[in-house]
Parts: sequence; C-alpha cells; structure tokens
Amino acid sequence: THTIYLTRHGQSQYNQLGKIGGNSGVTEYGLDYARRLATFARETICREDGSNANKARLWTSSMRRTNETAQFIEHPEVTLPDGDKWVQMSHRVYRNLDEIFAGEYEGLTYEEVASRHKDEAFLRKVDKIGYRYPRGESYFDIISRLDPLIHELESYHEPTLIVSHQAVLRMLYAYLMGIDRMDAPRLSIPLHTVIKLTYNGWTQCVEQQVYLGP
Ligand code: F6P
Repeated sequence: THTIYLTRHGQSQYNQLGKIGGNSGVTEYGLDYARRLATFARETICREDGSNANKARLWTSSMRRTNETAQFIEHPEVTLPDGDKWVQMSHRVYRNLDEIFAGEYEGLTYEEVASRHKDEAFLRKVDKIGYRYPRGESYFDIISRLDPLIHELESYHEPTLIVSHQAVLRMLYAYLMGIDRMDAPRLSIPLHTVIKLTYNGWTQCVEQQVYLGP
C-alpha cells in the first residue's frame, strides 16, 4: 500500500479577500496551519511504519503560499547502521502542482468576473471542467499537466505529502478516489485539513480527513 496525503496551502491573503489566483503569501492563520502541518509530518507521516523515522516525500507547487505552508517541515538526514544516508522528508517543487491559471482574470473576485464578464461567467457555470480562462487554463489543462506526475506518484511506496491548491487537488483526489472527473470541479477540498488516502494500486482508496484547525 501507499499513503498519499493531500493538503491545500494554509489560508492565503487572496483567500481572505476572495480573489482568484495570484501568488500571495499566507496569513497568520495560514502560518498556524503550517506549524501544525510540520508537527503532523514529523509525528504521523514520518512514523507511519511504526519506526521513529520512515522515509517520506514532500511535494509542493512552485507558489509562495504552498512553500510558506511547508516551511516548518523538517528534512533531517538519517544514517542507517550500515552507513547508508538518506533525507527523511525529501522536498521537490513541481510547477505541475501550481493552481489553475486564471489568465486575464487573475486577481479579480468572483463578483467582479460576474459583473464585468457576464458571458464568460455563464460559460464557466455551464461547463466548469471545459471552460478555459482567457489566456489561462481549464480544468482539462490541469488534468493533462497532472498526468506525468501521477505516473511518478504511482511508482513510489513511501508516504507522500502533497501541498497544492484547490483546483489541482480536486482533480488529483477525484483520480485517486475513482470519482467521475465531470463531478470533480465542484468537490470540496477544505482548508487546513489533511486528506489521507491509502491506496493499494487497483481498488479505490480509503480516505480519512484530519482537520488540523483552526
Ligand atoms: O479561491 C482559491 C482558488 O485556489 C483560486 O486561486 C482558484 O482560481 C480557485 O480556487 C479554483 O476554484 P474554482 O475552480 O471553484 O474557481
């Protein structure tokens, strides 16, 4: 089996303002979550096999808010009795995990889009998965850039913590849980919650949500 932990970044300044996209940092709330997440990583993810320190992986997007959320996670180097060394929570940054790019609408609120670009807002409403933001991305674009990443993910056995964003995690979660992708763009992926998925490679994952508050 393989355990995959999915989480959104801690609350960002843009989340607080209800703005779409951007590359803002996290708020005080978001920072609190980052600290709790580091504790969770040390005490739960890195002790999954019952030992003091099993190997684990950390994947983040390249954006500010995910890297600020992962900043307190420790990456100790472990030396085995035979002298073999490895980094406990190796960190990799993937642009494929970046949030859906809203193109010309980056930084607007949903209300601003609805009032200034009525036709576009309507198109997105009727076809959320296929709708591509002007000069931006669609949910289908997210699926195609997640494809190589899923292949990589499925080739590992160590627990992997993925710190990413709402739209991207909806598609990843739907894939791993066997949910129809047409339903995926409206799934709820709550903030400040770790979604633990235990995966055996052929049947549906077993899910557990851990709210780390506040
Ligand atoms: O609101 C946070 C956010 O991550 C935005 O940056 C992004 O555009 C949005 O969620 C994706 O959700 P939806 O597709 O429902 O607008």
